[in-house]
Amino acid sequence: MATSGKVIRCRAAVAWAAGKPLSVEEVEVAPPKAQEVRVKIVASGICRTDDHVLGGYFPNIEFPVIPGHEGAGIVESVGEGVTSVKPGDKVIPLCLPQCGECCFCLNPDSNYCIKSHFSESQNLMPDKTSRFTCKGKQIHHFLWTSTFAEYTVMPEYAVAKIDAAAPLDKVCLLGCGFPTGYGAAINTAKVKPGSTCAVFGLGGVGLSVVMGCKAAGASRIIAIDINKDKFAKAKELGATDCVNPKDFTKPIHEVLMEMTGLGVDYSFEAIGHKDTLVRDLLAHHRCLCVMVGELASGSVVSFDPMLLLCGRTWRGSVLGGWKTRDSIPKLVSSYLEKKLNPDLLITHTLPIAEVNKGFELLRAGKSIRSVLLF
Ligand code: APR
Ligand code: ZN
Ligand code: ZN
Repeated sequence: MATSGKVIRCRAAVAWAAGKPLSVEEVEVAPPKAQEVRVKIVASGICRTDDHVLGGYFPNIEFPVIPGHEGAGIVESVGEGVTSVKPGDKVIPLCLPQCGECCFCLNPDSNYCIKSHFSESQNLMPDKTSRFTCKGKQIHHFLWTSTFAEYTVMPEYAVAKIDAAAPLDKVCLLGCGFPTGYGAAINTAKVKPGSTCAVFGLGGVGLSVVMGCKAAGASRIIAIDINKDKFAKAKELGATDCVNPKDFTKPIHEVLMEMTGLGVDYSFEAIGHKDTLVRDLLAHHRCLCVMVGELASGSVVSFDPMLLLCGRTWRGSVLGGWKTRDSIPKLVSSYLEKKLNPDLLITHTLPIAEVNKGFELLRAGKSIRSVLLF
């Protein structure tokens, strides 16, 4: 390729400081180093976690930074030693990588790869340098994905090669929101047929939990949100009941207990609020509660430990429990076979120049997923 080995100048949405809108700038993207891949991003969804970055919720994320972690694109060039992808391959960047060698990757029950950026103290590449500059300043990476850039660089083990037939403007959702929610139900909770589930929060993640519960054969799926505009989509995707906590004066777990008699079998927190986490845990005597939403760094939750002693289980789920490099390509294949339909989550498609409009729609509760196109 003509650009291989050279610095590429392209557009990217840069967050210069917390609390400020993104700024679409011309940035320079350095070539990939050894074991790295440079990808031309075609489409990127906007996830609430990106909004948390803009809001400064993660103190360890340094600014300026290029957010975005729900993208899909085409390999532009590869660094020395890269063997699993080549220029022209369609790929999904992995915000949770799979190195294949660490103790978690070797453990069949875990997907929390220890060689991920989660173990890094700074949002740079693994060698502690950045491939991005803008106006002479170093720009930080985010989750090694930074999919709000037209070209981005990531470690080889943070890239999944997908089917060449995949429509990138749709399968980008398989980079975060859809597998996170769907996998929380299928992999982490292992929802049983005939069970009753409660899903707190009906954004892209929570609605994907609803889809997962339905696919697992749950007979009752209670969808909970303070924005009633989310209910029509939740029903379309499989929710049997929709509940707005604002319609009740009593606590929501009491409402759920009354609705179900015995309470729910599984509950999922897909909001990212510590209050709903505890409420979620109270949803039933024998409930398995799965934490899907991401809380602000440093959040502290207090709860009565007797809740656990009585037999409840409280589990966390990161990226739906999928071992990403193995599973995301399979999810793309299932999508192409029409076994999954994350397209139903896409409410808006916007050019990258309108990235801030995408965030305004999310904050106003008017979108589920906006997909940005380059
Ligand atoms: N009770 C019920 N629903 C609530 C409450 C509440 N107290 N507060 C907010 N919600 C609803 C919102 O109305 C919205 O529909 O939760 C939903 C959250 O959806 P999004 O903001 O679209 O977020 P999403 O992208 O789905 O991510 C959910 O998972 O990955 C994490 O960081 C992400 O914590 C976030 C969570
Ligand atoms: Zn996300
Ligand atoms: Zn690993």
